[in-house]
Parts: sequence; structure tokens; C-alpha cells
Amino acid sequence: MFFSINHYNQIFHKKVPIMKKEFFIAQISDMHIVGNESLNILNNIQLEKTIKKINKFKPKIDLIVATGDLTDNGYTNEYKVLQKIFSKSVPDVLMIPGNHDKRKNLIKIFSNQEYLLNNKFFCYTVSNLPVFLIFLDTLVEGKPGGEICKERFLWLKERLFQNKDKPTIIFLHHPPFNCGIWWMDAIGLKGRKELKKLIESYTNIEAILAGHIHRSIQKKWAGTFAHIAPSTAHQIELDISGNKFLHINDEPPAFSLHHWSADNGLTSHICYTEKSKSYVNSKIKDINKYREFFIKAKLELDKFEK
Ligand SMILES: [Fe+2]
Repeated sequence: MFFSINHYNQIFHKKVPIMKKEFFIAQISDMHIVGNESLNILNNIQLEKTIKKINKFKPKIDLIVATGDLTDNGYTNEYKVLQKIFSKSVPDVLMIPGNHDKRKNLIKIFSNQEYLLNNKFFCYTVSNLPVFLIFLDTLVEGKPGGEICKERFLWLKERLFQNKDKPTIIFLHHPPFNCGIWWMDAIGLKGRKELKKLIESYTNIEAILAGHIHRSIQKKWAGTFAHIAPSTAHQIELDISGNKFLHINDEPPAFSLHHWSADNGLTSHICYTEKSKSYVNSKIKDINKYREFFIKAKLELDKFEK
């Protein structure tokens, strides 16, 4: 069983099972992988831990989507490190670039990712899951801000039109809205006005899933659910007052876990890579008594909702 990745007129097949009724996507973002010779390889260690956590996660995670800033500088040696870490991943990994990436170096190392080859932009779709997945490349090489230029806009417009009856999720690096942290908003997405109008004209878009800001943010945008995933490396300070310029804090690395089911639609969670230091495993006596209570409560609620 395979799913299809479509890029322009080409279709590529990846060895990932088709998930019929429900599936789990781990969205990892802003990993900022560095070369092994770097003095601070903490980002690499954090991604290794994240992949380990994803591999062990129950229920099984079906797919990893990496929403950009895969590496810190876009160097080939950084992509080599990334490739080595990804080689340990059980789920398949699909990538889009962020402003810290360089397409040429990325494909030099990930030459097995056929869907990225010979294309100006890394825009592609996955079409044979219960949800249509669109991967939108917002990178403008060498610039921190992103853009949906005319070419990418027209590509997206066509894909949305052709799949207007399917629930759809769009992945991109730069979020198409302001988050309130002024210096991050200053390096936002050009072309967002046109994008908003386009998205608003569809009712089948389940979510827009982005990265770039290095913290988890939710917003209703263009009539749909917009979500920014945290970084697997470091988070940016929640500073709406504008006093903490370029401030990176000690909040823990995390990823987003998107759970899709035919009955319940999309539910998005934040999953921390490590347990909090204050974590205490609760030990409850008579646990079966409590289990019975919760089972009864669930049955009662299900009956009420019928
Ligand atoms: Fe980043």
C-alpha cells in the first residue's frame, strides 16, 4: 500500500500505508540542525530525542511533516546530519523549506526525495489519504521573510480547485498572519492578502499548519483553523509588549501532533519532547473502581448524544 505524492505532472510513490479511517501526523518544525563540528549541537540532540519519542508513540504515528528551518544555515554538512537523524525515523518524513534553508543543498543530500527534484519550488501534494495534503514552499532564498509569488499562488489555486470536495490541510513555513511578536511579524509572509481571499472562498480547508515563530499559536484565519507548531530546538519569548527583542527562552522543545479521524475531524495537540522536571507519576489506589466510573460516564454521554 502506498500513498501518492504529486508534483506538477509527476506522481511519486512512498512506502507509507494508506490510512483509511484515522491517521496521526507529527509536525516537527524549526529544527535548525547544525554541523557536528559546531560548538553547540543541542538542536541536533533535541531532534534525535524528538524522533525517538515519535518512534515510540502510541498509537503509531503515520507520517512526519517537517515545516521548515530544517537546518540553521542551509549548509550541506547540516543536511547530512539531518539525513542521519531522519534515517532513524520509523515514519516517513516529508519536508518543506524555511528561510534558513537552501533548496540546492537540501536536494544534494536528500536526492532520494524524488518529489523535490528538478523543481524551482518544493510545492507538492499527497492525494490518496482521507485528507488532501498540500505542501507550500514559501522560501525566498537568502531572505528571512517568505512569499507566495504569482507562480506559487496559481499552483495552489489550481490544486484547491481540483480538490474542492476533499477535506484539505495546507503545510507551509511562514504563517500567513501576524502573531503579535513584532520582530517575527516583520519577517512574515508576502502575498498573504491574496492567499486569505483564496482560502476564504473554500469551505473544505481543515487547517493551515505553519512554523517559523518557534512557539505554539492558534488562530481562526480566513475561516479556517491556523496553527503554528513549536520548535524542536528552542522557543521564542512570548513578548507582545515589544521589550524582548530577539529573545530566545528556556521553554521546552516540542512538536505538534495532528490526529485525523473520519468521525472527529482534526484535533491538534502539543507534545513535549521531554517530561517536565516537576513530573510525578500518580499512583492511585483502586484504579479499577475509577476506570469503571469513567466507562460509565462515557456510555452515558454517548447515549445522550445519539
Ligand atoms: Fe526557525
